[in-house]
Amino acid sequence: MAEKIRVLLSEEEVDAKIKQIGEQISRDYAGKEVHLVCVLKGGSFFMCELAKRITVPVSLDFMSVSSYGSETKSSGVVKIVKDLDEPLKGKNVIVVEDIVDSGRTLSYLLEMLKDRGPAEVRLCTLLDKPERRVVEVQVDYTGFQIPDEFVVGYGLDYDQKYRNLPYIGVVEFE
Ligand code: IMP
Ligand code: MG
Repeated sequence: MAEKIRVLLSEEEVDAKIKQIGEQISRDYAGKEVHLVCVLKGGSFFMCELAKRITVPVSLDFMSVSSYGSETKSSGVVKIVKDLDEPLKGKNVIVVEDIVDSGRTLSYLLEMLKDRGPAEVRLCTLLDKPERRVVEVQVDYTGFQIPDEFVVGYGLDYDQKYRNLPYIGVVEFE
């Protein structure tokens, strides 16, 4: 099926917002260090840009998860495909995600990371679809709240495509 991409958030808007979040995190963690945990693959573009905008010392780690269940609906039971390299003990962890949708993946993941003894765990997401929430998750830093539409770009994919778009677009099927 052919699809078209309609721009929802331009490259300029996204860049400006990431700069703002970076400044906010730098203020909130003044005099401390932050440990950014990227959820692959979607969170990777956002995390790299965000890390560049944070002025306190930053360390990075990556994990990859997949949810059991159907392809289109996350079940909330998360399998770790690639675990973090570093322990979280005593660290100020910020989990960096592309989008919070139902909240199932994140609520499960956050609980699991909290069990590893970090000083604290916060959640930072570029996009949030609040209308779609099934499980409550506390989001500490949000780029944009968006309507319930399927979006791509800036790390987000449709069938593994469009992650490299420098803006956020809505997929429209013809
Ligand atoms: P949930 O919050 O557990 O439902 O799942 C969130 C995950 O679903 C995100 O990390 C994305 O990988 C994927 N996802 C949700 N909405 C979209 C979308 O609009 N475009 C692309 N991926 C999405
Ligand atoms: Mg994701």
